[in-house]
Amino acid sequence: MNRSATPRFPAFLHGGDYNPEQWLKYPEILEKDVELMREAKVNCVSLGIFSWAFLEPEEGVYDFAWMDRVIERLWSAGIHVDLATPSGARPAWLAEKYPEVLRVDDRFHRQHFGGRHNHCPSSPVYQEKVRAIDTALARRYAHHPAVILWHISNEFSGDCRCPLCQDRFRAWLQDRYGSLEALNDHWWTGFWSMRYTSWSQVEPPSHRGQNANPAIWVDWRRFSTWQCRSFIEMEKAALHAVNPDIPVTANLMHRFWDYDYFELAKPLDVVSWDSYPAWGMGDDLREASEHAMTHDLMRSLKDRPFLLMESTPSQVNWHDVNKLKKPGMHLLSSMLALGQGSQSVMYFQWRKGRGGAEMFHGAVVGHDGTADTRTFRQVRQVGDALERLAPLYGAEKAPARVCILYDWNNLWALDYAQMGRRGDMRYTETVNEHYRALWKLGVNMDFRDCESFADDGRYQLVIAPMLFMTRAGIEEKLRAFVARGGTLLMTAPAGTIGEDGLAHLGQTPHGLTDVLGIRALELDALTDTQENRLIWADGPHRLLRLCELIQAEGAQVLGTYGEDFYAGSPCLTRHDFGKGQAYYLAAQTEEAFLTALYRRLVESLAIPRALPGELPDGVAAQERGGAVFLQNYAPQARQAAVPGAWQDLLTGDVWQDRVELEPLGIRVLVRK
Ligand code: GLA
Ligand code: ZN
Repeated sequence: MNRSATPRFPAFLHGGDYNPEQWLKYPEILEKDVELMREAKVNCVSLGIFSWAFLEPEEGVYDFAWMDRVIERLWSAGIHVDLATPSGARPAWLAEKYPEVLRVDDRFHRQHFGGRHNHCPSSPVYQEKVRAIDTALARRYAHHPAVILWHISNEFSGDCRCPLCQDRFRAWLQDRYGSLEALNDHWWTGFWSMRYTSWSQVEPPSHRGQNANPAIWVDWRRFSTWQCRSFIEMEKAALHAVNPDIPVTANLMHRFWDYDYFELAKPLDVVSWDSYPAWGMGDDLREASEHAMTHDLMRSLKDRPFLLMESTPSQVNWHDVNKLKKPGMHLLSSMLALGQGSQSVMYFQWRKGRGGAEMFHGAVVGHDGTADTRTFRQVRQVGDALERLAPLYGAEKAPARVCILYDWNNLWALDYAQMGRRGDMRYTETVNEHYRALWKLGVNMDFRDCESFADDGRYQLVIAPMLFMTRAGIEEKLRAFVARGGTLLMTAPAGTIGEDGLAHLGQTPHGLTDVLGIRALELDALTDTQENRLIWADGPHRLLRLCELIQAEGAQVLGTYGEDFYAGSPCLTRHDFGKGQAYYLAAQTEEAFLTALYRRLVESLAIPRALPGELPDGVAAQERGGAVFLQNYAPQARQAAVPGAWQDLLTGDVWQDRVELEPLGIRVLVRK
């Protein structure tokens, strides 16, 4: 099946990070691991993520004997391997002998050995050493039947300002802009006497230097993305030179900011990510919606099934308050991933270490070393569930009719823009508010950025929250979408700057004023304790944080501001354009407004939902391959109306017209 993330083993993966190098002096533990893995229904482990110091104990001297034994032992029990490249953490000898592999921070200080994820991506020595060990690993294991996936490095993040990276930044800029003259124009260096007269004067932005020009910061983020992408390409090339048939992944993160994931996903064969919701902090449905959104974003990056690479079987150790998962939550949150289209449930980590940074992070096996724990039983329960859900493996989420634009360039542009609520524009939060309103209605959504969005007839509704920076011809694509009959919803601030970071001259939202039938005038910001009010047919709603003053120029005014000197002026508009319609929402709103608005839109556009009708408070439903994942995030039992006869794939129970859910309960229902 070609849509499988792991074609050599096309099945739901269950397992997680296995770090046996910690236990090489405890052979009895390594023996026991495999036995316990079988008991926990583990069928795949991610191996070798931080093994470099054990694979290459001295420069150029490799020791694969221990890994050979581990892989043989796993494979003899039918357990597959997602084999990692060890570039996420370098050995001490490497840092000591070649300090250039260590990163330079934004105060221009070189880091010392220690920690992880902090190499310089430009260092030729680091690249050469990584290429060498990747090649050696591939030669040894890329044809082993246990190996089904490559796990490149670990959670790439951050940037480096060493002399090598500075040179590379200059070269990247030369390539992008062609001449220093063009760079000066794009960076608007005529202001504050910032004009450069030689390339050698150009430095990365930092808190000690160039710190206030948003265009420079956004270019730095693009450059850092490119650096990381090139590093991934380098590792992939080393692996695929030996055997191109094993797909590569890299584990991405929730609400990640440093790099543009749409760009980073390009060289990956499979997207995977690490999901660590903070359950039990007050509103689990809201937390679920956040992680549901990232699941959908990860699926959307390549428009392919993805993997849940890490989650905790019990608790993490890095929140300020590390709560346990309550009974039921482990199965429920694992099924959240599955309902959103994941082809795996994987954990960090298999067994708790005796010491080190994460000795108290949740793990499948604790320091007691037994299967007789609540955590272990919950993990086995997920293993059982994945077996029962095997028929859903090849099934994907029903095609989305709704698309949300989420664009990393826009994220950075809003964060670096010194305006509105400076540094607190809440782009991702706003996107999540729109997503959540629709997710709670059981609507399936895709994400696209300005570049990947195509008006290909898939979508009925396109939502572009706060699309402040327009790029990749998005204005024309949205115009065509509406003209053809689509419904567009944009929110303020929109179409203000271009890809180069320069303000659009003329009326805004740039290139869309005639589509929206409005023009933007001024942006007002509110403090946390101030509010405005939206007056519209459905009754008043609270408006928060950002209120843009707009003028209707052809659009119908659906709602107006209720307070302040702009009371009575338009806040929500609708305009017919071509065969479609374009809405504009000028302010940030409370959730109840979005729920009401989307309920109307979903109804009037007849957008498919997982279940018709209202779901009780705390309950969400998502459809995958005809199965409805009905999830109860409430701490109380709930009943939901489900017209017709259904069977729960997890328990075999049959339900007619209504279904009961225990607190934190999950049912995977198929029509009988
Ligand atoms: C990340 C890392 C893991 C581990 C976990 C702990 O996801 O990739 O190595 O540190 O966090 O939650
Ligand atoms: Zn560097």
